[in-house]
Amino acid sequence: MATLGVNIDHVATIRQARRTVEPDPVWAAALAELGGADAITVHLREDRRHIQDRDLEVLRRTVQVKLNLECAIAPAMVEIACRVKPDQVTLVPEKREEITTEGGLDVVAHKAATAEAIKRLQAAGIVVSLFIDPCPRQIDAAVELGAQAAELHTGEYANATGEPQHAKLVELSRASAMVRQAKLELNAGHGLTYRNVVPVARLEGMGELNIGHSIVARAVLVGFSQAVREMKQLIG
Ligand code: PXP
Repeated sequence: MATLGVNIDHVATIRQARRTVEPDPVWAAALAELGGADAITVHLREDRRHIQDRDLEVLRRTVQVKLNLECAIAPAMVEIACRVKPDQVTLVPEKREEITTEGGLDVVAHKAATAEAIKRLQAAGIVVSLFIDPCPRQIDAAVELGAQAAELHTGEYANATGEPQHAKLVELSRASAMVRQAKLELNAGHGLTYRNVVPVARLEGMGELNIGHSIVARAVLVGFSQAVREMKQLIG
């Protein structure tokens, strides 16, 4: 059965819009755990646009389920990960101008740098997952590099509809089989929503699904009426 890694980056995005203290992603992590999250995922970006170093440090001390840190292969980021010691690091590509992670990490093109990052993280006792496109070359390289897990990028599946979306699901299914045959943990994520998640969750051997934007978006709306009622009561 698939497990759920709740990505709380966008709770921090709302906080950073005002550079204030709320909403605190640490509170969101606790509520996600109460809701049954199997893992808490955060991306400490090099530009610190949402999650801050303080968040990661407090989360390391408070999260009781698995803590999964998404980070770039840059040595400075790997150093932070080795010091804070999340349970798992998912290595992702990072470009400053992107709105969100736009594709998988090209572990073929960045083989040497990825190998170095994996070596340092594993030496610190951290499980390494590689966020890669669902393509055979990338999976072969992930296996060769000795990662313990692969997170398949579901963005193209999520952005498609109709027949093209079905084709992307078939591609994910083939890639999943390759990952399982190589005895790597099978994870997936990016762009998954309440409408498109089920076929991905049903792929054989699916492990952790990392989902952020859709859950935060729904949380804002399902909590909106209550938040307004509470303010109304205060001023009435
Ligand atoms: N997995 C990885 C590796 C990501 O970079 C992200 C986005 O930070 C996600 C999953 C979650 O994507 P979304 O916010 O679209 O659910």
